[in-house]
Amino acid sequence: MSRTTARPVRRSQPQGPPSNRAADTARLFKTKNDLPHDTRVQAVELLSQRLADCIDLQSQCKQAHWNVKGPSFIALHKLFDEINEAVEDYVDLIAERIVQLGGVAEGTVRAVAAKSALIDYPLALSSGEEHVAALSDSLSQFGRTARIGIEEMNELEDADSADILTEVSRGVDKWLWFVEAHQQSRT
Ligand SMILES: [Fe+2]
Repeated sequence: MSRTTARPVRRSQPQGPPSNRAADTARLFKTKNDLPHDTRVQAVELLSQRLADCIDLQSQCKQAHWNVKGPSFIALHKLFDEINEAVEDYVDLIAERIVQLGGVAEGTVRAVAAKSALIDYPLALSSGEEHVAALSDSLSQFGRTARIGIEEMNELEDADSADILTEVSRGVDKWLWFVEAHQQSRT
């Protein structure tokens, strides 16, 4: 009589995360922050979207910083890295506001890729003109959604989140100017 031996099961695919891995933004940590629970739930949800966009924007700055070529290389290479550093600060501001409100900052590459609403940054770009055009598109799009976010936070009466998004949008407008000036002309 033969005996079957248990063999380890080989999985052809690595085990993926459970489908409910994304944090449930409606479930917040307890906090002594006196903003109403519903306000915090909605603010966390809105800020989570801006966080994903902002991390995506930061990665786009690095993409441009690494790959730009052409006669303006050194100026653009340095500018794109300067913007990356500023955007990293905006990421931190938004993420930490989410946590202050009792939420979970979802900042992994996979979470961001699934959530970001920004235009996908083209990987084939090389010239300075192409990177200036692409990054100014992304800065403009992010600035628009940050401004919408200020209005949303004002409606929620979360003045501090509105203030954070105001700081972020003010900075992004400056960086849009710095990038866009390379291609501006009178029409
Ligand atoms: Fe670098």
